[in-house]
Amino acid sequence: MTDWNNNVSEKDNNYTHNINRNNERQLDRRGFMKTMVGAAGIFAVSSLPWGAVAAKELMGLSDKEYPHYRITDVKDLAVGDSTEFHFPSENDSAVLIRLKEDKYVAYQNACTHLRCPVYWVKEEKEMICPCHHGKFDVNTGAPTAGPPRRPLPEIVVKVEKGSVYAVRVKRYEA
Ligand code: FES
Repeated sequence: MTDWNNNVSEKDNNYTHNINRNNERQLDRRGFMKTMVGAAGIFAVSSLPWGAVAAKELMGLSDKEYPHYRITDVKDLAVGDSTEFHFPSENDSAVLIRLKEDKYVAYQNACTHLRCPVYWVKEEKEMICPCHHGKFDVNTGAPTAGPPRRPLPEIVVKVEKGSVYAVRVKRYEA
């Protein structure tokens, strides 16, 4: 005869008599918690370096320097015009705008809202995202209208021997 306090009569004594249900539950809970804490610890430690790298990227602490890329020749881009290119990889579309005789600006042109391509509209002197009427300041890349909240990443350019080169990407400079 067994009662639920785990007192087992001599007659019913068998291999299960030493199992205390409450202890068993406690052990299960404790074991589960240990596993969870262990897993969380492993995850935290393993993701720490990548988290630090990502944070550095997002905070603009590192300007990336890539092999310089020739975007265009100076003679092929009139003042007020723009040309598209890719930098630093083939997947990063960008736009170069010649604002004055000797002033160029360039940005990665995936809109910071939902990544539609942002265009330079010469007649309006504005950088416009057609998807949701987003607008960006051509001098800084900062959003000026519509849903975007973050600036377009700026690409540093330099003019050398008659050509315009993309040099590096600035990210979210404060
Ligand atoms: S994707 Fe550019 S404003 Fe929405």
